[in-house]
Amino acid sequence: LLTLQRGGAEVDATGNLNTTQQSAIDYLSEHGVHVVGAPTADAADHDRYLWEVVRSGPHLLLDNGGDLFARWIEEPDRRLLGGTEETTSGRMRLEPLRDRLRLPVLVINDSPIKQFAENRHAVGQSVLESFLRLTNKATNGRRVTVFGYGACGKGVAANFRNAYAVVSVVERDPVARLEALLDGFLVPERDEALRSADVVITVTGAQGVVTAADLPLLKDGAILANAGHFPWEIDAAGIEAAADGRVTVLESGHMVNLAGPRPLGNSIESMDLGFALQARCLEAVARGDVGPESCVVPVPRAIDETVAAAFVAGAR
Ligand SMILES: NC(=O)c1ccc[n+]([C@@H]2O[C@H](COP(=O)([O-])OP(=O)(O)OC[C@H]3O[C@@H](n4cnc5c(N)ncnc54)[C@H](O)[C@@H]3O)[C@@H](O)[C@H]2O)c1
Repeated sequence: LLTLQRGGAEVDATGNLNTTQQSAIDYLSEHGVHVVGAPTADAADHDRYLWEVVRSGPHLLLDNGGDLFARWIEEPDRRLLGGTEETTSGRMRLEPLRDRLRLPVLVINDSPIKQFAENRHAVGQSVLESFLRLTNKATNGRRVTVFGYGACGKGVAANFRNAYAVVSVVERDPVARLEALLDGFLVPERDEALRSADVVITVTGAQGVVTAADLPLLKDGAILANAGHFPWEIDAAGIEAAADGRVTVLESGHMVNLAGPRPLGNSIESMDLGFALQARCLEAVARGDVGPESCVVPVPRAIDETVAAAFVAGAR
């Protein structure tokens, strides 16, 4: 936000439901950002804040989950030039609305940089870091089973292998399973993978990946953790109720790299890359470098290249 401001923008911002921190609001306010609303877990309050932002007559929207564009469509103000959407879920929400949006909207999550820098490398590192910090256990020689070999799962599996764990991957998709095999991971059948695991990590986006029904398979002392977005990948409540202390679910199945004491989340460098994509995409929309034909499309290749080249130059 401060980068946009330094680029000449007047910035109105509001937070997320449940997760906005007062210290962030204070910091932004002290630096001249107009922050709408306050931390809240009340959906009606949050809705009001979103409307206030949309009704402020913006030229650009930086959206997360499609909340702002979906409201703007209900009261379109033609001062809006377009903007960006951060997430996959927002892309899915906005795609069917293209006919009504008819503005450039660039989807940050669909940049390969976001996929490999944040989802693969940063989530992989932060899940390993959180596991070490929360358990104070070594990874060396431990058998770790990772459910899911998408962008995030690849990073989690690689980071635990790099920390000298013996890593197996359970994947629903045969093609991704083959990739895991060719990347050098064990790809046992699901039950065998659970039976041999000292540590089980889910990172699939799916529900009920490991449940209390799996308890007979799990070793005494097994540690379970979820790195997927929602806490429903591991049925933590069911497992804890039935396990009688025999296994541990870290942070009740909430995203292990963002939950618990002193969560650090992803490295700041990986977030910098995503924010640089945001700033460059908003600049392209403001300058008219992309038009309404770019409605809910991935980041233009030229922007990916600019951001990547600048990061590499800074790293030399
Ligand atoms: N912890 C974080 O900081 C963080 C950051 C980004 C994304 N995420 C979340 O991580 C999850 C995965 O994201 P991604 O980008 O890797 O998604 P993805 O779609 O690239 O990969 C998910 C993989 O899981 C597999 N899968 C689905 N159900 C399965 C099951 N029951 N058993 C085994 N494999 C299964 C799919 O076939 C797919 O290959 C999502 O919930 C995402 O929101 C978390």
